[in-house]
Amino acid sequence: MTDPVSTWHRLAPSHVLLDGFHALKHAVRFEAQVPVAVTADRPAALALADELAPDVRDTLDALLTEVPATTYAALVPRPHPTAVAALAVRPAREAQLARLARLPRTAPVVVLDNPRNLGNAGATIRLAAGFGATGVVTTGTLDPWHPTVVRGGAGLHFATAVERLPVPELPAGPLFALDPEGEDLRGVELPDDALLAFGSERTGLSGALRARADHLLSLPMRPQVSSYNLATSVAMALYHWSSGSTGAP
Ligand SMILES: C[S@@+](CC[C@H](N)C(=O)[O-])C[C@H]1O[C@@H](n2cnc3c(N)ncnc32)[C@H](O)[C@@H]1O
Repeated sequence: MTDPVSTWHRLAPSHVLLDGFHALKHAVRFEAQVPVAVTADRPAALALADELAPDVRDTLDALLTEVPATTYAALVPRPHPTAVAALAVRPAREAQLARLARLPRTAPVVVLDNPRNLGNAGATIRLAAGFGATGVVTTGTLDPWHPTVVRGGAGLHFATAVERLPVPELPAGPLFALDPEGEDLRGVELPDDALLAFGSERTGLSGALRARADHLLSLPMRPQVSSYNLATSVAMALYHWSSGSTGAP
């Protein structure tokens, strides 16, 4: 049998870190390829599987190799309470872009315009996965597959299409950009093929994104409040789309 630690060191630079039981569970559910998975406590990990993920319990049983706690701790940036970690193959960019471009689209693409906060990006990917969105595209320099984003997304990157693109290369479709100065979202039905775009935490929507936008929409908010958090704004817009769509979960 191949030593999981040497496999880990060989693959870690090019693979996606799944940090903790829940990230591994989600990745397996959404058919990620997982060449190596370790735990410092196999009985505890399988007890969690029995309780929370009986659908993938046998797969996890076959994947997980127990290693000493010190070995596990040396493989990850900071140990997770579940003492589980795995590496997954990052989906090919070409395949992700094809998923994002495919028409007719049955659920929106979320666009984060130059996001700065890794936690917001992770929370958005988790929302997109939950609502069955086609994908999440980021513009700007943040890597949406950064380990902290994957941790925030609870391994749900594999349940949707996640890529980075410049604004001129965004997928086709009517672009609804969210901005406090826009028209009230509640009077607008969001189509299934929409791109739903959100601005940067610090500076809002960029000029390039505004120029590409077909509609500017606002979320209900009292005048004295400047703005909502980015991920909560995504949640409200996706919820609004879902309430008017037959394609939503
Ligand atoms: C934290 S806000 C950005 C605040 C930024 N200082 C600005 O000038 O816009 C991040 C993003 O969330 C969305 N957002 C926040 N509050 C909103 C609201 N009331 N209506 C529409 N979009 C909102 C927008 O897309 C915004 O660009």
